[in-house]
Amino acid sequence: MTEHDAVARLRAAGCVFAEDEARLIAEAAGADPAAGERLLARRIAGEPLEHVLGWAAFAELRIAVAPGVFVPRRRTELVARLAADLAPAGGLVVDLCCGAGAIAAAVAHARPDLRVVAADIDPAAVALAARTLAPLGASSLVSDLDAALGGLAGTVDVVASCPPYVPTAQIPLMPREAREHEPALALDGGADGAALQRGVLAASSRLLRPGGVAVVETSEALVALTARAAGDAGLAAEVARDEDLGATVVVARR
Ligand SMILES: C[S@@+](CC[C@H](N)C(=O)[O-])C[C@H]1O[C@@H](n2cnc3c(N)ncnc32)[C@H](O)[C@@H]1O
Repeated sequence: MTEHDAVARLRAAGCVFAEDEARLIAEAAGADPAAGERLLARRIAGEPLEHVLGWAAFAELRIAVAPGVFVPRRRTELVARLAADLAPAGGLVVDLCCGAGAIAAAVAHARPDLRVVAADIDPAAVALAARTLAPLGASSLVSDLDAALGGLAGTVDVVASCPPYVPTAQIPLMPREAREHEPALALDGGADGAALQRGVLAASSRLLRPGGVAVVETSEALVALTARAAGDAGLAAEVARDEDLGATVVVARR
């Protein structure tokens, strides 16, 4: 199969960036045509490109991803950038709901002076995160929010988080790639979408030192609820946006 054939098949399957995808799939397959055919078939069957390739682009890094784990979104680069900017020299940053570890990896890469800890409730996500984070000197562990992080209470400079924030009733309206290939645990933010954000902000008020900040991704639809949740957790909230990334983030100071 030539790359030209692959482009035609991807385009016929509805892939908008067929040329780019064919090139990346060819790169992933290397010199093994059978592997190339298998990867192409998975993509044409509707798997996310990142699951097929085994990595997602994020903040100039390649983050290891695999079927069953959330694919990091580029908009979340705003959380990582703010966390890296706000952390003091030698400080401690915790990525709660870390998934494959994209935020923690970007922070550790941008700021090698920091101690970075990443946690997620899903052992499969933590196993992937460990692969990316260990070479960057960051650690990862399984934890329901901060349940396993009690030893860090009151010592954290920045909590960075992109928790699930899709209202339960909107999950059936998500693109097929997300609905069928990402776990509900990674998407479902409860009835109003903000249940896990409330959990992260309450955990932040326990983890942060006085003056520390929580940086939590949200959406324009939810931002008022997220800011209210920060206030309920005793944190002072501001909103940051990046229009190029389509990102909205609540920055909440203890
Ligand atoms: C939207 S994904 C984001 C993952 C990662 N932060 C990123 O941006 O790629 C949300 C993550 O939250 C995790 N999660 C859901 N409930 C959790 C909980 N109670 N405690 C810790 N992690 C949780 C899921 O397993 C999933 O990996």
